[in-house]
Order: sequence, then structure tokens, then C-alpha cells
Amino acid sequence: MSKFNQSRRRFLGQSGLGLVALTTLPSISNAMESMGMGRMGMGGMHNSMGSEVNYPKLTPNKSNPNFHPDVELDLVCKPIEISILKGAATKVLHYQATLIKGPKDTVVDIPHSYLGSMIRLQKGQKVRINFHNALSQSSVVHWHGLHVPQVMDGHPQYAIESGETLVYEFEVMNRANMNMYHPHPHGATAKQVYFGLAGAVIVNDDEEAALDLPSGEYEIPLVIQDKQFDSDNQLVYSPNRHQRMTGVTGDNILVNGQANFHLEVESRAYRLRVMNGSTSRIYKLAWDDGMPMTIIGVDGGLLEQPEVKPYVMLAPGERLDVWADFSAHNEGSQLTLKSLAFSGVMPKMAMGMNRSSLAVGSEYPICTIKVTRKVSESHKLPTKLAKIHRYGIHETANPNNPLPISISESPMSMLLNGRAYEFNHPLPSERVKMGSIVLLEIFHAQSNMGMGGMNMTMPHPIHLHGQQFEIMSRSISGDTSDYDTVREGFIDSGLKDTVLVMPMERIKMIKPFQDFKGLYLYHCHNLEHEDMGMMREFLVE
Ligand code: C2O
Ligand code: CU
Ligand code: CU
Repeated sequence: MSKFNQSRRRFLGQSGLGLVALTTLPSISNAMESMGMGRMGMGGMHNSMGSEVNYPKLTPNKSNPNFHPDVELDLVCKPIEISILKGAATKVLHYQATLIKGPKDTVVDIPHSYLGSMIRLQKGQKVRINFHNALSQSSVVHWHGLHVPQVMDGHPQYAIESGETLVYEFEVMNRANMNMYHPHPHGATAKQVYFGLAGAVIVNDDEEAALDLPSGEYEIPLVIQDKQFDSDNQLVYSPNRHQRMTGVTGDNILVNGQANFHLEVESRAYRLRVMNGSTSRIYKLAWDDGMPMTIIGVDGGLLEQPEVKPYVMLAPGERLDVWADFSAHNEGSQLTLKSLAFSGVMPKMAMGMNRSSLAVGSEYPICTIKVTRKVSESHKLPTKLAKIHRYGIHETANPNNPLPISISESPMSMLLNGRAYEFNHPLPSERVKMGSIVLLEIFHAQSNMGMGGMNMTMPHPIHLHGQQFEIMSRSISGDTSDYDTVREGFIDSGLKDTVLVMPMERIKMIKPFQDFKGLYLYHCHNLEHEDMGMMREFLVE
């Protein structure tokens, strides 16, 4: 690691002991390091419910006087209170962005929401973001979906303490797409996201602009999350062992931070930018009136042409660009975006142990939409959308020998490639050459039988930091009756950074590792799993 940041090491005297009390995972090894006792060979130590990791102490990145930003903003994360349910206000954590330089529409606040300000960027822009931590615990921001240098990626090693500021500087290299910014401090990501730290970063480019898609009031973000409230309207997050294994779920579905979200629209086409910001809940999205789901984009941006589906799966960390045309609807008509029933979500042993009364895989409404005005004008759905650069298997460095991402599931732990998270300890299969195009294969490692023959297999949304990948193939073995309830809901024709891997499923994909060296995380975006250590790193060298 030292080759990336030797110069950024914080002097022990500066870090002080007070800092130890503020870390989200106070550990003996941290304390020893702060006391000048070094790492004592404790790096990579972990237990069954997570992993303890020692990061070197770093001086938070400062702004570079030679970097001339087109856009500059301050981003603070802080506790606030906001009214979500009737009655008492809810204590949440909130990202608030303030524009310092750049186009006026760069920062848009979502009204009455704890969700972070929406940040709108243009491909090619140079961006500086001054992130200030006003929480009482350490945090770091990750730009999920953006292709940025390793030191700007929000790796947990760069987490800053309460009161500190970390400067991000990068150029927007993505094609037009929707990304999610969220915290990534080791072991505390799920909790911080759950308490409200999440927002959207939308990238626009010329190719997208030429399509003249619905924009302005006709382009609407829909960030879907589930939360559990106590009788005082406060968020509840204290997962027990079972809830960590399954993922934490709540009984309240919030859209854009609001309960019972309701949208009023004109009878015309809208572009819905949908993002799953839940920690673990998977949705099977469909319209209740039989209108099919028309998808024009996914995580990595626009598809080449629209796809029409009866329903679409949306796992934590995934995004969907939905074309919703209400022009056949009469004034006054109402429809509901639902999550439909599906199966195969829970390890069989955990069925019935989940406390949520709103079971994942049951049918429930997400939000309602009412057509309040009949209009005759509407955008038309383009038949051709955008170009996607696709690599063939023959262009990969390892066409016959995919790099493995194996998932092992047991009642004690969820692992990738047989290991819990370790910092800067890549396996040979986790070292890739910068500039290479790599064939990867995700699969469930063992016979999917946990201790005592309990079936532990469950879905995992696997996310890879850095550039988007293309999905080459999916295969499923064994009894497909559960899979049959979801199989039509995957959009594999676009570029992805998060892929839902169902039980017994095997997925091949191609990912470029271009432009930047360093440690890039990959992990389960079931954030409880991530925090338990279901996370690894690729070392791009
Ligand atoms: Cu959205 Cu490493 O995460
Ligand atoms: Cu990410
Ligand atoms: Cu998982």
C-alpha cells in the first residue's frame, strides 16, 4: 500500500488518541497503532461476523492548486431531523451539497428529503468536491458507478474523522448514467446508508442530449429504500446475527425519502431514474395496470435500444432508466408501481426469522402515480438509443480462464473467494494489469449446504468498483422453480457495475481495468454482507 500513499501518512503525533474513540470500529489494533506500537501483525484479522482491518493513518487529501475545476462543490454529511411519518420528526444523517462553481443545475436538493442533494455532472467536466465530515464518526464518500482514480474512489482507507475535510478531484469519464454516492467506512457502510447517507450523481453527455429524452420536470429520480421506525418515528438499526445474514429490511417503503410517495403526472412520457438505495431489499418492479416496463438504461447508462419487460429486478446498488409513457391514460387515472412476488430470496433456514412484516419477495406497492392533466404532446421513445462499446471474449486477457469471484455462504459468514475482507492482500487471481480487459466469473462456491445441511444459498448483488462491465452469460443449475419467478427481470444488454447473482446462478462478464492503478473494491451490495466482510479488492498494477 505504501507505494500509493507513503507521502500521505499521518504522523502518529497528529492522529492522537481521541481519534480512536471516534472510529466506528474501535479496535485494539487501532489503539496500538495510535500509541505508536505499529500494526503488530494484526492486519487482516477477522472474526466470523466481520473483519477488522488496519489502515495506515493518512492525511486527508487536500486540493491540488494545479487542478482547475469546472465544477466545485462543498459536501457535508451531518445529522439533521426531518419529518418522514406523521408525528415526531426523525433523526437522520444527511448529505448537503453547496455549489461553489459551475452550472446552476449542478446541485438540486430533493425537497423534504433526507436524501443527499442530486449532483448533475457533464462528461469531461473537472470536478472538485470538498467533503466535510460533521458526523461524530468517521466516514468517506464513494462515487458508486463513477470511474475515478483510486485515491478519489472513497476506499475505506481514506475515511476521515469527525471535523475533517477530504478533497476529491476527478474528471468525469463516464458516459451518461446515474450513479450513487454513499459512505464506505469499513464495517459501518450499511448503518450510515440506512440513516440517510445516499444521493444520486447524474452524468449527462452529448450522445444522450442528441436523443432529446424527457428532461426537466419530465425526468424524475425515484430512489427506493426500506426503513423500520420505532413508535417515536426513529429509525431502528441494530441487526442481530440472523438479520445480518439475510440483510436488514424495514416495513416502510420510502421513495425519495418519503412514505406513501405519490406522483402527479401529465399524460405523456416520463424518464424515471430509479435507484435501489436499500441496504438489502431486492425489488421486482412492475406496473399494476399491465403496462409493461420499458427500460432505456441501467447502471452504466443508456442501452442500445429499449427493452420491454413484464417486470424488472432491482437489487441494492442497481439503477434503472425507465421510460414511462402515460399518454394512453385518461385524466384522473391512477397506477401503482409495485414490487411483485418472487421466491428464492432467503436462505431456507432463515425463512420466518426475518422480523419485517413486509417480506422480501412478497407483493407490495412502491408508489402511486396519478395522471392529473391530459396533454397531446409527448416525447417519442427512440428506437435506437446509444452506442455501447463491447469487448468480445477473444479480446480479454484470459478467454479460457475467467478470474473467479466465488460466493461462499454459511450460517457464520458470507465470503468472496473463500476469504473475508483484507486490506491490500490480493490473491493471485485478484491482481490485474492496468489496461487489461478481463473475463470474470461469479458463482456459488460450495454445494450451498451450510452446517447441518441447511440450505444457505441466497441472492447477492455483486458490485465492482471502477469501470462498468458487460454481462456475457448467465447459467443456472438444479431446480429452477425459484429462478423462474425472476428470470425475465434482468437487463443484461447494458453496461453494469452491480449484478444480482441468484442462488445457484453462474455469471460470466467482461470488465476493463483501464486508466488507474491501485486497489479497487468488489463486494456484495447487500450492505449488511459488505459490512460483515463480504468484500475483497482487485489490485490493478
Ligand atoms: Cu456502492 Cu463499494 O459501493
Ligand atoms: Cu461502488
Ligand atoms: Cu451478499
